[in-house]
Amino acid sequence: MTITLTKPDDWHVHLRDGAMLNRVAEYTARQFARALVMPNLSPPVETVEQALSYRNRILDAVPSELNFDPKMTLYLTEKTSPIQIKEAADCEHVLGFKLYPAGATTHSEFGVTRVAAMMNTFECMAKHNVCMQVHGEVTDPHVDVFDREAVFIDQVLETVHRELPEFRMVLEHITTRHGIDFVKQSSTNVAGTITPQHLMYNRNEMFKDGIRPHHYCLPVLKREEHRMALLEAATSGDPSFFLGTDSAPHTRHSKESACGCAGIFSAVAAIEYYAEIFDSIEKIDRLEGFASHFGADFYRLPRNTGQITLARKTRIIPESIQGSHADDHEEEVVPLKAGEDVSWSIEKEA
Ligand code: NCD
Ligand code: ZN
Repeated sequence: MTITLTKPDDWHVHLRDGAMLNRVAEYTARQFARALVMPNLSPPVETVEQALSYRNRILDAVPSELNFDPKMTLYLTEKTSPIQIKEAADCEHVLGFKLYPAGATTHSEFGVTRVAAMMNTFECMAKHNVCMQVHGEVTDPHVDVFDREAVFIDQVLETVHRELPEFRMVLEHITTRHGIDFVKQSSTNVAGTITPQHLMYNRNEMFKDGIRPHHYCLPVLKREEHRMALLEAATSGDPSFFLGTDSAPHTRHSKESACGCAGIFSAVAAIEYYAEIFDSIEKIDRLEGFASHFGADFYRLPRNTGQITLARKTRIIPESIQGSHADDHEEEVVPLKAGEDVSWSIEKEA
């Protein structure tokens, strides 16, 4: 069996910089026409100028014949100014500001400490029609790690949306029924991305026969009831939900550690993972809207003109992606489902 789709886009990806960028960017560029690149480098990508120079480094890291079109996000800080917002609004390569609550995840230390104090900035973004991509978790260490998304929605996001309904926001990597319900109940100015790992696994997967650092990401995997709500939303045809892998490479060394980094590297077979999951509940016909239409529509960009054909044909995911020194295991990156089968593969691109 095969299906042909409009070429998909990945609306949430971490491509890193330097040697890691050179190693991982091509995977994303082969699968997706466009990708929305997260700004959590160290130091972060805060200005249009920095974003354009990062964009050029990304283009240098991928073969030009792929015609990959990276779209950029800027890192929102308490110092983000109206001038920076206006510059972002005027730049076709920048699609918004990413909100990281300070301390929520990898390289979020430059982020926002008091989101409620940012209303003037949000108003300015709304006025210029600039979107915000949200890492939706509170960082209060007293809040249970599995509740941080729900508490963030209740304490922060609902208020922002109520007070500024015209402000266009994407709740990134939704992990809970609460997040799904929030997006559904909000206006079409609020959307959400969903990762393959949150559709595939519940939190048991992190503790299967021992601790599994390669299944650790943020927001962390949740209970089965939440996975079911995500799967239902992703395959429902509701245009508020679209594809964002959150592919987030870290070296094997930094994940297999006493204090391992959060992030799952899924760029190696991103569209195939989604195809497998959609097909597993007989909803493969819903993949095209989720992967190729709804994100472009939300960002008011044209849908892609190229196509890809996927076949129900088993492919084995590599155990790891090597660094430039093939024998240097500390530099390896371990992908999602490393060494396992995935039941769909890309047959051709046009
Ligand atoms: C991301 C990373 O490593 O940059 N990690 C993750 O677990 N998803 C950051 C993020 O999106 O939270
Ligand atoms: Zn991310």
